[in-house]
Amino acid sequence: MTATDLYWDPFRHDIWVDPYPIYKRLRAEAPVYYNDEHDFYAFARWDDVDRGLPDIEHFSNARGNIYEFIKSGIEMPPGSVIFEDPPSHDIHRRLVSRLFSPGGIRALEPKIRDYVARQLDPVHGGDGFDVIDILSDKVPMRVIGMLVGIPEQMQQSVRDRTVANLKTEEGGKIDAEASQIATDIFESYIDWRIANPSDDIMTKLLGVEFEDHDGTTRKLTREEILVYCAVIAGAGNETTGQLMGWIGKIFGEENNHAQYQEVVADPSLSAKAVEEILRLEPVGQAVGRYVTKDVEFHGQTIPEGSTALFIVGSAGRDESKFANPDDLDIHRDITAQRTFGYGLHYCLGANLARMEGRIVLEELVKRFPKGWDVDWSGAKLASTSTVRGWEKLPIVLRK
Ligand code: HEM
Repeated sequence: MTATDLYWDPFRHDIWVDPYPIYKRLRAEAPVYYNDEHDFYAFARWDDVDRGLPDIEHFSNARGNIYEFIKSGIEMPPGSVIFEDPPSHDIHRRLVSRLFSPGGIRALEPKIRDYVARQLDPVHGGDGFDVIDILSDKVPMRVIGMLVGIPEQMQQSVRDRTVANLKTEEGGKIDAEASQIATDIFESYIDWRIANPSDDIMTKLLGVEFEDHDGTTRKLTREEILVYCAVIAGAGNETTGQLMGWIGKIFGEENNHAQYQEVVADPSLSAKAVEEILRLEPVGQAVGRYVTKDVEFHGQTIPEGSTALFIVGSAGRDESKFANPDDLDIHRDITAQRTFGYGLHYCLGANLARMEGRIVLEELVKRFPKGWDVDWSGAKLASTSTVRGWEKLPIVLRK
């Protein structure tokens, strides 16, 4: 933590555009980085991310996992899972994970494929399209709708709201007060579902009995179910949408074109290619924690009450873990990945997001075997401090 010219924060647009050279320096020169302008500690090495994220003795999610939320001190609604610590986290996670059973996720595959095809067929044969408009803005929300049973006509307004919550002015921060978990948008859906029970997963969740941390057996309240819906929509929309954006961007680059051609020749490479893109361009760059107890890293004390950012975007490029970490290699054997976090908050939607990415890539190679180029004159990186990706990503199809 000596005074150097080394500077990183997630708010400066010029850094956000390409943070990887700075991560490399952080890993080498400042394994414990303190930013005094915004008062946070950051950890860029794989080993430190791996040590910190699961350490619930020193690091808490109860104030949120985003810098702006942690600093604002706003209270998180009970039952939010992602913004909770054990024991309540574990009780709520067990309940929410019913939505993500492997069989349930697998059953969505044909429906998702059908929807992706419906999005891509109209642009097939044209000159090009905006990946964000055709895929990112549409597919993940539709999938969450399938997952929890939200009727189609409500889905776009839910998505618009969750994206608006993450948006910042260029170089700015999230308005934590205005962006709190937005439960109101789901009210009419849940009330409709209570009045119209069926065999869907949400009806089951409304009826389930569980043992609370005080030992009482009870059912979930309407409020708790609303929080679950909002958390899933908040966590699963923009993230997965941006994975689709990065698929478009990475395979639209000349130097990756040969690897795209390999996927065209053998679409069963799609899952590995998506895994590699998740490593290379993780949509969530850093996962935040509130420090509840003094803790030592590399001989330095991280004091109780401070904010820690674990840079998963850097962990995936750690040269001690991955050879040639800055290069795309769709054949890379990735046995561990921190893009979905690590420990007891590990992403519940990870396999769903992977499946969505794979389906999108499979449907792209099927329709566009010659590939595409990014139209850089129209491309625009979204302005956020959390989910890194594209607001506009027009591509020109190769003929
Ligand atoms: C590429 C897409 C995605 C990425 C990169 C991603 C990333 C993450 C990360 C890093 C965490 C851990 C946060 C922490 O440790 O504080 C997390 C948690 C979570 N994610 Fe995802 N996510 C993705 C897609 C999804 C999807 C599709 C859903 C649901 C439809 C989802 C639902 C959740 C939930 C409910 C949690 C909280 C788990 C807990 O706290 O126990 N995510 N995600």
